[in-house]
Amino acid sequence: MKENKSEFSYEVYDDISELNDKDARLLKKARVVTKEAYAPYSNFRVGAVAILENGETVTGTNQENASFPVGICAERVLLGTVATLHPQVPIDTMAISFTSGSQESDHPISPCGMCRQALMEYESRVQKPIRLILSGQTGKVFVIKTASMLLPLAFTNKELG
Ligand code: THU
Repeated sequence: MKENKSEFSYEVYDDISELNDKDARLLKKARVVTKEAYAPYSNFRVGAVAILENGETVTGTNQENASFPVGICAERVLLGTVATLHPQVPIDTMAISFTSGSQESDHPISPCGMCRQALMEYESRVQKPIRLILSGQTGKVFVIKTASMLLPLAFTNKELG
């Protein structure tokens, strides 16, 4: 028997003022775009903004539904939009923020499991990492070098042969 070890590290900033201008601008947009979420059921509004390798900016917000499982997360709304409007263009960085009706938005949130799988698929599709910036409306900012770091031992298209 041997044990495999998988390590994960990410950058932690005290607040947005520690980021470079480009990252700070992207995070500000993610914070603002949360307003466009349709989240009448959870009151949890998520905003995602990506800067693409071609310089374009694309946004996504969560869109809920009275039939709850029909709802879709901000990150996957964004990925579908990028793939449709800018096919095969790599995503350089994606910033994700939120507001909530029941708690302070003073800490980062991290993509859900389904979104991690979708982010990884996009990385493999265009063969480029997606850098993530995670933060609430205020407070600490996490920066993750590549989305696939969030999904160790992932199921990938390689398994399908
Ligand atoms: N949500 C996202 O949009 N992204 C995530 O990574 C986590 C959760 C949405 C889904 C749902 O509309 C609401 O947040 C509460 O789960």
